[in-house]
Amino acid sequence: MSLNSQNSTETENQKNANAQWGGRFAGGPSEIMQAINASIGFDKVMWKQDIAGSLAHAAMLAHVGIISKDDEATIRKGLTEIGQEIAAGNFPFSEALEDIHMNIEARLSDRIGEAGKRLHTARSRNDQVATDFRLWVRDAIDGLDQQVAALMRSLARRAEEHAATPMPGFTHLQTAQPVTFGHHLMAYVEMLARDRGRLADTRKRLNECPLGSAALAGTSFPIDRKMTAELLHFDRPTANSLDSVSNRDFALEYLSALSIMAMHLSRMAEEIVIWCSSPFSFIRLSDAFTTGSSIMPQKRNPDAAELVRAKTGRMTGSLVSLLTVMKGLPLAYAKDMQEDKEPVFEATDAAVLSLAACDGMVRDMTANTAQMRALAGSGYSTATDIADWLVRVLKVPFRTAHHVTGRLVAKAEEKGVGLADLTLQEMQAEEPGITDDIYSVLSVDASIASRTSEGGTAPGNVSAQAQRWLKTLGAEPTVTGQ
Ligand code: ARG
Repeated sequence: MSLNSQNSTETENQKNANAQWGGRFAGGPSEIMQAINASIGFDKVMWKQDIAGSLAHAAMLAHVGIISKDDEATIRKGLTEIGQEIAAGNFPFSEALEDIHMNIEARLSDRIGEAGKRLHTARSRNDQVATDFRLWVRDAIDGLDQQVAALMRSLARRAEEHAATPMPGFTHLQTAQPVTFGHHLMAYVEMLARDRGRLADTRKRLNECPLGSAALAGTSFPIDRKMTAELLHFDRPTANSLDSVSNRDFALEYLSALSIMAMHLSRMAEEIVIWCSSPFSFIRLSDAFTTGSSIMPQKRNPDAAELVRAKTGRMTGSLVSLLTVMKGLPLAYAKDMQEDKEPVFEATDAAVLSLAACDGMVRDMTANTAQMRALAGSGYSTATDIADWLVRVLKVPFRTAHHVTGRLVAKAEEKGVGLADLTLQEMQAEEPGITDDIYSVLSVDASIASRTSEGGTAPGNVSAQAQRWLKTLGAEPTVTGQ
């Protein structure tokens, strides 16, 4: 084989190297560059934030005299029309123009000429994208906050309805002590309240405006960063231009908050799956939140709950993904940071859907109160109440009372009966001081009614907590019907 023919084979292979990417890459490596470089496919969702940022920037440029008032008016009109164009689905998005920032700016110049070309004075895409992304995350937080509050309201309403409905409380998924269904639901209200708090904290720290940091060093133009910060409803401008364009902490905090919230929703979803399963049968979901099986006609599968449980993976995965992108990046901007958006968008979609599905299921579920009550009394769930009675009435030390009760449980187990079925003589054989009065604490209702300590499961506590939250959340404390 001659050198020449070898060369010509290599040339063929090089051509084919792009052919393996499929028809879209027939034009050669520069198309691969465009494909890896372009973010318009996903960052177009930030168009509203990009236009808002540009409007504020242009207003400021005119205010300090960097551009004329006429130019600003023309820019404002042009950007407003572009907004309408995008909203109507008529905007000619171009991959060659890379991202949403260049797409909008190029379109503006096409439409209004010279004035459009002045917009990018004293800014860079680095501070532009940092601003747009903060605005986007801030909007997402505000939307999610409403959704979390709605789910908390739904839970509190159902809790109020079931403040006195006994169910088995578990540890190790073994029957432990009776609790009320309302109490169990209110536990999730507390978790979600902390999730809301984490989102609010994220928002507080996020709310500084990076616009005007330019590429990395600031700008020589006499800009007014306080003005743009105010126009965009930020609390203040960021303090360090290098940090401003390279910081993605706000996105990471947001993803951390979502990951923790997803973990809570996943636990709730897992419980819904368990409660729906036929051996438990604590609740029933309607056709609206279940699917059937193509082969087993009796099936009613809690797919929505299972998918909420599974979507946790997307949210936690997004956090790990962005942490990995950011770790080891030198200051200031690097293109790696363009990979910040998809995890945030994906996690947000998953969170929006998961919250909506949980809210739907909580409103939809019907409690099988008879089954819950029956199981609440099984598994010697009131054994602790015997021990507590021995301590309270006979002044037996708790550790001793625990042993005595253990022997009573063993005796009941041996006979195959419940604790309340032991005779007084059988009880007195273990502790002669026991009187008839002990039977008064053995029922499920007596057990839950006695748990009046702050935060305990007594029905009065539970409804007070539900009412308190409904008031805090600004909801009428009324029970939603099925
Ligand atoms: N699309 C880019 C991003 O999302 C915008 C910033 C580009 N900046 C740059 N120096 N190339 O990060």
